[in-house]
Amino acid sequence: MNVLVTGARGYIGRAVAHRLADAGHAVVGFDLAPLVEEGPLHTASSIRQLVGDVRDEEGLTQTLQDHAVDAVVHLAGKIVVSESVTEPLAYWDHNVGGGIALLKAMVAADVRQIVFSSSAAVYGEVAPEPIAEQHRREPMNPYGRTKLTMEWMLEDLDRAGAVHYVALRYFNAAGAVPGVTVERHHPETHLIPNALTAAASGRPLKIFGSDYDTGDGTAMRDYVHVGDLADAHRVALDHLAQGGASLALNVATGLGYTVAEVVASLERALGRPVPTVAADRRPGDPPLLIGRGTAIREHLGWVPAHPDLDDITKSAVAAHRP
Ligand code: UFG
Repeated sequence: MNVLVTGARGYIGRAVAHRLADAGHAVVGFDLAPLVEEGPLHTASSIRQLVGDVRDEEGLTQTLQDHAVDAVVHLAGKIVVSESVTEPLAYWDHNVGGGIALLKAMVAADVRQIVFSSSAAVYGEVAPEPIAEQHRREPMNPYGRTKLTMEWMLEDLDRAGAVHYVALRYFNAAGAVPGVTVERHHPETHLIPNALTAAASGRPLKIFGSDYDTGDGTAMRDYVHVGDLADAHRVALDHLAQGGASLALNVATGLGYTVAEVVASLERALGRPVPTVAADRRPGDPPLLIGRGTAIREHLGWVPAHPDLDDITKSAVAAHRP
């Protein structure tokens, strides 16, 4: 199939674009910024690289038509929870404004299948047991609200027969795929890259919150290897291509690890300590987010190949360049 991947330059987008190209799809990568300066990344010949803004409905319609796109994987968007608390309008603009423009362009170009990058953030504050898809969606930050709004829009469009979708609710993407993607954002806010930078620089990693009700007091997350996450998009596209019904699914391992456990795992992989310092809770952070991964297994046959935290941190350590 001809697949447009928005946000193809990002940490997860690269992994998705490569996984789809490896699976034989003709991938058109679409991103705000050019991909070239990233060296060896994105060299697969079947990945075309376009620069554009998902909020540009006309440009997108043209792109979908020019490349005879069959399906869209939509990852482009703003992703920093704490920033969404201080700059909510930018999140509504990119994540919802961009989503509307993209969906209008898809309808105009008669592209009817979309895999949408949703988030565990749609659930908000939750119970200690892994969350199933039926769990109440009650986001606790603007980022999560923009993702939930997109899910609602997709539900309405599905009911109207306009598009079919798979919304993938990512838990915490982590780790690296050698030669394809390394976790890196500008600015960096994520735990594993920040911890690796702390280990390299000696400047302590701030641990945001030590008084959560999680055993050791630090926040707990469900870390999914980015290569496994990418593969979930491949099987979601296959499902839609075979005429499968619209779905919203967790991409989760069902395993929770605290910030302190992630730091300890990184220390094992590095063979040296990561300096840390206790800091206040970060605004918008839920205490714990762990997903049930059984529905995606039942519907799409997806199971994580690398659920073990030490595998994930080892891949991050091997790929990290300070
Ligand atoms: N953390 C620290 N120190 C840091 C960075 C993070 O203690 O320097 C903590 C956070 O407070 C949090 C945990 O490590 O408890 C994980 O934080 P990340 O920033 O790595 O990831 P988040 O869980 O905040 O965010 C991820 C995705 C978001 C998504 C969210 C779902 O990056 O896009 O999961 O809630 F929305």
